[in-house]
Amino acid sequence: MSQPTNLGGSFPLSATFITLHRMGYGAMQLAGPHVFGPPRDRNAAVAVLREAIAAGVNHIDTSDFYGPHVTNQIIREALHPYPGNLSIVTKVGARRGDDGSWIMDTSRQNLTDSVHDNLRNLSLDILDVVNLRVGGVSAPSDESIEAPLTVLAELQQQGLIRHLGLSNVTPAQLAEAQKIAPIVCIQNFYNVAQRSDDTFVNSLAAQGIAYVPFFPLGGFNPLQATELEAAAAALNATPMQVALAWLLHRSPNILLIPGTSSVEHLRENLQAASLQLPPEILADLDAIGQHVGNTAKH
Ligand SMILES: NC(=O)c1ccc[n+]([C@@H]2O[C@H](COP(=O)([O-])OP(=O)(O)OC[C@H]3O[C@@H](n4cnc5c(N)ncnc54)[C@H](OP(=O)(O)O)[C@@H]3O)[C@@H](O)[C@H]2O)c1
Repeated sequence: MSQPTNLGGSFPLSATFITLHRMGYGAMQLAGPHVFGPPRDRNAAVAVLREAIAAGVNHIDTSDFYGPHVTNQIIREALHPYPGNLSIVTKVGARRGDDGSWIMDTSRQNLTDSVHDNLRNLSLDILDVVNLRVGGVSAPSDESIEAPLTVLAELQQQGLIRHLGLSNVTPAQLAEAQKIAPIVCIQNFYNVAQRSDDTFVNSLAAQGIAYVPFFPLGGFNPLQATELEAAAAALNATPMQVALAWLLHRSPNILLIPGTSSVEHLRENLQAASLQLPPEILADLDAIGQHVGNTAKH
C-alpha cells in the first residue's frame, strides 16, 4: 500500500469551527498494562504521538483516567506546545481505584475534578471536547444523564470546555442531552463485528453528528474473522487495516481513533485510509456482524 495521503478525508464537527481528519488516534494504549500506571517504554509512547502528528493526525482521544494521569502527561511531554490544528478530545465520568479498578462516577465532584485534572495534566486553559462517559463497561444503560451533563454544561459556561460529546449512550440519552447543550460527537462501542449501533450511526449521520467508535479493532479482544483474513489476503493488506477501512466506508460521519503503543501499528493503521474495498468484499465483511450476532437495538 502507498503512504497515507488523505487520512480518510475530513469531517466538520457540527456547530464548531473544528474539522477533523477521519483517521485519528486513541491514546489509551499509552498507559501501562491494564491502562494503569506508567508504560513499559515511555520514549516509545512519546514516539507514537509524535509520529501521529507528523503524519497529519489532528484528532487525539484521551482521558485523565488512563493511567490515571499518565496518558495525558505523556501527551503533554510529546506534543506541548500543541499544533494549532490539533483537537484533543477527552472524557470524564469515571475514576480509578488504587488497585486499578474502574469506578464509574458521574458525581458533580468527580466531573469537576476530572475537568481540572485534564486541564492541568494537558497544560491547557480550555478543553476542546469533553465526552460525558456513562453506562457500563461497554454497553449503555438507560439512566438519565441530565444531572451530570448539566454539571459539564456549567463548566462549559465557565469557559473550561469548548464542546460537549457523549460516550456509551443510547439515542434516548442523546435526545435528553440535546435539551441541555449541543452535542458534537458520540463515542460508542462499534466495529465490523459489533453492530448494535447500526441504526444510531445512520441517524447521527442525518443530524451531522460525528460517531467515533471505541474498540474499532476489538479493543482488549482483537478482531478475528475469516472474512477479515480473506479480504486482507485479497487486498495485500492486514486484517486490522481491512477493519478500519470498513469503518471509513460504513458512514461519512465515522471518525477513527484506533489505539496502539507501536509506531509500526500506527503507520499500518493510518495506511488503511488508502485501502479501497470492492463491493464483493464489503458484502463478505457485512456478514461478520451477522454471524457474531448483530443485536441491533437502536
Ligand atoms: N469511551 C470509552 O468508553 C472508551 C473505551 C475504550 C477505548 N476508548 C478510546 O478508544 C480508543 C481505541 O480503543 P482501544 O485502543 O481500546 O482499542 P482498539 O483500537 O480497538 O485496539 C487496540 C488494540 O489493538 C492493537 N493494535 C492496534 N493496531 C494494530 C495493528 N495494526 N495490528 C495489530 N494489533 C493492533 C493494540 O496493540 P498494540 O499497542 O500492540 O498496537 C491494542 O491491543 C482508545 O485509545 C481510547 O481513546 C474509549
